[in-house]
Amino acid sequence: MVDLSVKIGDVTLQNPIMPASGAFSWDYGDVIDLNRLGGLVAKTICREPRLGNPTPRMAETEAGIIQSIGLPGKGIDYFLENIVPEYNKWEPPLIVSVSADTAEDFAAMTRDLSVDGVDVIEVNISCPTKAPSGGNFAMHSEHTKMVMDGIRAATDKPVWAKLSPNAGDIVSIAVAAEEAGADAVVLCNTFLSLKIRTDNFRPALGNKFGGLVSPALKPIVMRMVYQVAQECTIPVIGIGGVTKAEDVVEYMLAGASGVGIGYAGFRNPTALTTIIDDLEEWCDERGIKEISELIGAVRDDDIEWDPLVAASHGV
Ligand SMILES: Cc1cc2nc3c(=O)[nH]c(=O)nc-3n(C[C@H](O)[C@H](O)[C@H](O)COP(=O)(O)O)c2cc1C
Repeated sequence: MVDLSVKIGDVTLQNPIMPASGAFSWDYGDVIDLNRLGGLVAKTICREPRLGNPTPRMAETEAGIIQSIGLPGKGIDYFLENIVPEYNKWEPPLIVSVSADTAEDFAAMTRDLSVDGVDVIEVNISCPTKAPSGGNFAMHSEHTKMVMDGIRAATDKPVWAKLSPNAGDIVSIAVAAEEAGADAVVLCNTFLSLKIRTDNFRPALGNKFGGLVSPALKPIVMRMVYQVAQECTIPVIGIGGVTKAEDVVEYMLAGASGVGIGYAGFRNPTALTTIIDDLEEWCDERGIKEISELIGAVRDDDIEWDPLVAASHGV
């Protein structure tokens, strides 16, 4: 039987499947066995309690949902006291996700989260709907480097930097995160989007902009994972549009060491464990002994390609 384990820096996951932040909580444990997941990824938390964005926060489009939840939550103190212990009832590593408005607070929150029971700190420097304009640190490489430098100095825990697909040149942003000492990059957050209602001419979302979430993201994020994996030496985690085991295989062939799953879990809460089962079967049928063999195994050596030129030309 295939060994599904993967290493993300110093962290070993029993398989590459993780929930995506914000699309999951420990109460999925009522429906699936959370001990089967590669990691448990908590919803992004902020320092103070937040109500989140004005409603409506979700709208349907032909291409998926756009959402602008706006990081509601009860703040870091509540999180450490009440939510970390809930996740710690389960065995997989706990990946907490954090957002802050300033580089200083990002560093301070990272320090505050560096406690027993937290295995990895994912820094959400890329939320497209926290600021109404969609701005965030991960839009520019120099801002990424600056915020990541402070975060790195604040903790010895593994730090994964969640990046934005809305940045023009994802490769230079990922390189900046690596240079600042990130242990992995997570590609990526949602795509900044807009829907306008034709009955009243108003934006469909209370925040105006939202982030698109859909299987339609996958080919675009695949391209980003591939480009970044060519240029960075740290592991890449692919998130966007995974709905089945073959999607995981595709991301791994492009260079991902793990994947996150959001949307598919909304459609079917058992999707994550089904995908693990199917992935195991897919590998066994093909005689693959270790799933890590798939990482970056795309066969494209015969196609000439310069990753930096491709990145600078944009999409
Ligand atoms: C309702 C909802 C809430 C989300 N909240 C967060 C969040 O708190 N932090 C974060 O980093 N990403 C958040 N995301 C983005 C997801 O983690 C993920 O990057 C995105 O949904 C793409 O993956 P998918 O195509 O598998 O859904 C959220 C997505 C959705 C749909």
